[in-house]
Amino acid sequence: MKISTAVLGFAALAVASDVHDLTGQTFNDFVKDHDLVLAEFFAPWCGHCKALAPEYEEAATTLKDKSIPLAKIDCTAEQELCQEYGVEGYPTLKVFRGPQNIAPYSGPRKAEAIISYMTKQSLPSVSLLQSTEALEEFKTADKVVLVGYFSTDDKTSNVTYEEVADQLRDSFLFGATSDEALAKAEGVTQPAIVLYKDFDEGKNVFEEGFTKDKLIDFAKAASTPLVGEVGPETYAGYMAAGIPLAYIFSESAEERESLAKALRPVAEKQKGKLNFATIDAKAFGQHAGNLNLEVGKWPAFAIQDTEKNQKFPYSAQGSVSDLSEKKIGKFVEDFVAGKVEPSVKSEPIPDKQEGPVTVVVAKNYQEVVIDNDKDVLLEFYAPWCGHCKALAPKYDELAGMFKQYSDKVVIAKVDATLNDVPDEISGFPTIKLFKAGSKDAPVDYSGSRTVEDLANFIRENGSHKIDVGSKAETMEGVETDQMPKQAPAATASDLSESVTEGIKDTITKAAGAIKDAIIDDGEVEEHDEL
Ligand SMILES: *[C@@H]1O[C@H](CO)[C@@H](O)[C@H](O)[C@H]1NC(C)=O
Ligand SMILES: *[C@@H]1O[C@H](CO)[C@@H](O)[C@H](O)[C@H]1NC(C)=O
Repeated sequence: MKISTAVLGFAALAVASDVHDLTGQTFNDFVKDHDLVLAEFFAPWCGHCKALAPEYEEAATTLKDKSIPLAKIDCTAEQELCQEYGVEGYPTLKVFRGPQNIAPYSGPRKAEAIISYMTKQSLPSVSLLQSTEALEEFKTADKVVLVGYFSTDDKTSNVTYEEVADQLRDSFLFGATSDEALAKAEGVTQPAIVLYKDFDEGKNVFEEGFTKDKLIDFAKAASTPLVGEVGPETYAGYMAAGIPLAYIFSESAEERESLAKALRPVAEKQKGKLNFATIDAKAFGQHAGNLNLEVGKWPAFAIQDTEKNQKFPYSAQGSVSDLSEKKIGKFVEDFVAGKVEPSVKSEPIPDKQEGPVTVVVAKNYQEVVIDNDKDVLLEFYAPWCGHCKALAPKYDELAGMFKQYSDKVVIAKVDATLNDVPDEISGFPTIKLFKAGSKDAPVDYSGSRTVEDLANFIRENGSHKIDVGSKAETMEGVETDQMPKQAPAATASDLSESVTEGIKDTITKAAGAIKDAIIDDGEVEEHDEL
């Protein structure tokens, strides 16, 4: 008797899930019947799916009360359905507003984030607040909320505000009231926007120049904490902010809090010129390497110029007392005054070029690659990269063939993990030809990695048209060593290190790489392959 009760109890527990199991048969009707559905496409064996499961369950239970159902689809059983929705990795999360209107969910795979995101999706982009109670409750409904105060006949402000709300609805909650008494009680004159936040000064008021752009700028600036936190959710925002970011690395939450407090006055003084944020060195410590800090010595401080992707590591690492308001304040002031030199990571310049391939490091890059009249073929490699190792003997051979033309053609390589170079690279190895006369527009090599094809590439695309063809033709092998579609996860941080300055495009890509690195370290967003 006892046993069977226990068994029954267990069975009931196992079945009591608030996540709806959907199949090819039930899926369509389900998303038709519900205005808003979050669906997870998963595979039973996928580790990231297993990690998500309890978070997803928790979110489903909370969101059930708000009538927002969460569903899951086992793609090993429902292959057709998963294919129809373009599922390429597990887990894939999608937000359905009916069968046609589908958007990816790409936020963190945590219950809290899912709840917050789906709650925002379920509300009209602007909630109407016509009583003191509704307003008061709304003010604390999220970390950051905005309330518009304007009169019923002020259509212009209303329309502008709704446009902004539609655009930023994933980031903030938007409310509005036309009640003049509520505006008065808040101490603002219609039309006005007030941003409420649960940190720093608590609220900010926007009363002038009711344009969409100004409002968006206001919302972004006012919602950025004086000393914030770098993580997968905030990283892209900091990179897009258009001003440098100062990082405070520390392993413990208490220390981060106390350092943030100590450096607040510095952040306050530089508001608008520099963003300040702490970063969890336990989870994202590898990122310190991208800033040319020594990984493992905490706490640490560094500034990144996000526009030029220059790094300014603060040299004293590993002692809290060195990160005092006074010392960091001085460093930051020097930085703002342009008195701090960016740090460029480089191996030492080789005393002598020994092998057939010329060794490039950050410090001789300008001289060997740019400031001359030669066609320079440069390979960007990483020591651990298998494709690079496979290429090495062929690359040596190629260099040997061009040896007699060394006044016109240089075959070179650079370890991009140890040297800050300005080029955009998307995987290892990357090969570029800097031809004489147009060094600012290197040509990417995308052919097969054979001696023959490389030699032909130099002949055809180089300025000097050097032909070593007769020899090349005797070389055997048209083996095609495909470029990896994507850099392996471990390369992400290495990639970001390799980009120091230059065109914005490059920076954006580098930022993406750093973001990947951060996210990978945090093990939040990885997909298991199909
Ligand atoms: C803004 O306009 C909408 C649509 O006309 C209306 O429902 C809403 O009440 C207006 N908001 C305010 C605060 O007047
Ligand atoms: C020369 O460069 C172009 C552009 O990258 C490329 O399409 C072409 O194949 C190259 N020529 C050879 C012989 O590799």
